[in-house]
Amino acid sequence: MMCSLWRGTLLTLTSSLNRRVFQCCRQLGRSYNIASCMPEAVAFQGVSDHSGLYKFSVNESDRFWGAVARQRLSWISPFHTVQNCDFSQGKIKWFEGGKLNVSVNCLDRHVQTCPERVALIWERDEPGTEVKITYRQLLELTCRLGNLLKRQGVRRGDCVTIYMPPCPLAMASMLACARIGAAHNVVFAGFSSEALADRIRDAQSSTVITVNQGVRGGKVVDLKRTVDQAVQNCPTVQQVLVAMRTENTVPMTDRDVPLEEEMMKEDVVCEPVAMDSEDVLFLLYTSGSTGKPKGLVHTQAGYLLYTSLTHRYVFNYHDGDVFGCVADIGWITGHSYIVYGPLCNGGTTVLFESTPVYPNPGRYWEMVERLGINQFYGAPTAIRLLLKYGDEWVQNYNRSSLKTLGSVGEPINTEAWEWYHRVVGDGRCPVVDTWWQTETGGICIAPRPADPEAEIVPGMAMHPFYGIKPALLDTEVVTGDGVVLQSAQFPAFLRLRLALCYNQYCPLNCATPLLGFFFTGDGAHRSKEGYYQIIGRLDDVINVSGHRLGTAELEDVVVCTIIIMFGLGVYVFVVLKKAVMVEEDVLAQQLREMVSRSIAKYACPDFIQVVRCLPKTRSGKIMRRVLRKVVERNTDELGDLSTLDDPDSVHEVIRGHRRLRGDGKQQ
Ligand code: WTA
Repeated sequence: MMCSLWRGTLLTLTSSLNRRVFQCCRQLGRSYNIASCMPEAVAFQGVSDHSGLYKFSVNESDRFWGAVARQRLSWISPFHTVQNCDFSQGKIKWFEGGKLNVSVNCLDRHVQTCPERVALIWERDEPGTEVKITYRQLLELTCRLGNLLKRQGVRRGDCVTIYMPPCPLAMASMLACARIGAAHNVVFAGFSSEALADRIRDAQSSTVITVNQGVRGGKVVDLKRTVDQAVQNCPTVQQVLVAMRTENTVPMTDRDVPLEEEMMKEDVVCEPVAMDSEDVLFLLYTSGSTGKPKGLVHTQAGYLLYTSLTHRYVFNYHDGDVFGCVADIGWITGHSYIVYGPLCNGGTTVLFESTPVYPNPGRYWEMVERLGINQFYGAPTAIRLLLKYGDEWVQNYNRSSLKTLGSVGEPINTEAWEWYHRVVGDGRCPVVDTWWQTETGGICIAPRPADPEAEIVPGMAMHPFYGIKPALLDTEVVTGDGVVLQSAQFPAFLRLRLALCYNQYCPLNCATPLLGFFFTGDGAHRSKEGYYQIIGRLDDVINVSGHRLGTAELEDVVVCTIIIMFGLGVYVFVVLKKAVMVEEDVLAQQLREMVSRSIAKYACPDFIQVVRCLPKTRSGKIMRRVLRKVVERNTDELGDLSTLDDPDSVHEVIRGHRRLRGDGKQQ
């Protein structure tokens, strides 16, 4: 291989960690037996412990995934081939020949065994007003909605765009699409009308589902109005289904369908469509380094299996537990660990509509006490924010129900990790730092599952999950090692032509493309024990509060970005074009982090700069290579500037940078 794949260099970042050992294996106890943990393992010869099971999963991948797929999913007809993948050709196919319906796996089979079990707890913005929905009720909602979508002309293979805050009807809409064989395209309800229109057009949706208004952090947001603006530029859209989150009426046109009213006319039975394993389940747009969002595709069986398996084992989820993932359903975390993973496992899942600081910074923990949450899954940004408010906001509430604490979306620093472990979890809950991406569909690297007594090092994602073979790519171009995944090895990986594009795209200037590997864009270190620590993005994608945003989305909400600073303190001056559905202080923190991260990437910690006019191309894109060269003081190598809208902006950036570095007087 041209780029050697390997290496367990433990670099300075990891060696400076406080390497306290946390032995958090109470649930497994002394009588640990791999078969009692994973029943399928009985049939795997020579497998007696977790590391044996992991080795089996990567060396005998067909047997491993074949067995778990047969055991854990309900098939309408069985698959004949476990995997048929050739990543160098962009071909990724799992469980060919098999037919199933995802909504049946998530609902009907649990309705048969435990219809009155709570499937979903909707934690509404107003504290103390949660709504519990049983499996039977969620199936009914899904069927009525499925029938309504069919009546509106939605057919198998169509793609429905969902622009809704976290609410039961959003979840039922996703499941209704799955039931009738349509794909869904959930767009985070904080995105602007332009971003929404882009995604509707790209997905060619004829139907959009939304709500009249959203409510978050006590504020009302006019989501229907945003949809009205978006669809003006979307010729494919024929109807907009509008649910009522608030009592307020909003203007309705001929195109608009009152959702609750119309769905109540429908039958509570809706025949599930038999889908092929590789039919599309959903599209989800994620930001690329080019600024144009990419619609990633996940398919039926492999995705469902992988999310349910990771939900069960990474969090040690058991029947009867209440699983609280506080992400938004508009992101992959919501898709995989609010909707599909937990429901496939017959779990009780929490759908959180609010913010970590509404009405006060005790919100999460008051909710944990009130709902009896057993596994809590959140983002480091929120943890860091809450840490600053002090321990009392946590200690005021009873958190004895908590068993596992999860973290996702960005690196969790040691201080936040320790606080999460010591204060939130009273030192008794394993903290699982889970690394994954929209592309991977589910968690790829996490401390659990692991053998009993296995340590968890603060701030480290630790081990690959079953079936995952990470590889590190050494490079002189960037600091750190890049994570590369041997992608064909696991079923939830993104599909279609995109795989091919990704495969051939090697941002680290390797002489040849990384044939057979998928470059994740993240840097990582691997310790001599084989533990992984993720250090963050190596490309121009910005991670805001655990979600990837390209400059396009940010520019959408920020009229004039007056970034940028570093050194003595971090200051951000932004003028917001429109209200976004983010609590102000959360937003401020997100922007601060975004900025510090993107600057840190240029390895110039004392960079203090105020840029009033960023160098933009005529099409409006920030020319980041110019900024990078300025920061690196390679102003002789700025390259072709002829596409810049205002070439003088470059001089301003250079002057500002010199001033801030104290070179100004020499000018
Ligand atoms: C980052 C979110 C460090 C990473 C699930 C990745 C993380 C991007 C972690 C994917 C983690 C996610 N530690 N960084 N535990 N988890 N990331 O597609 O940069 O919204 O590439 O998926 O988030 O973001 P995405």
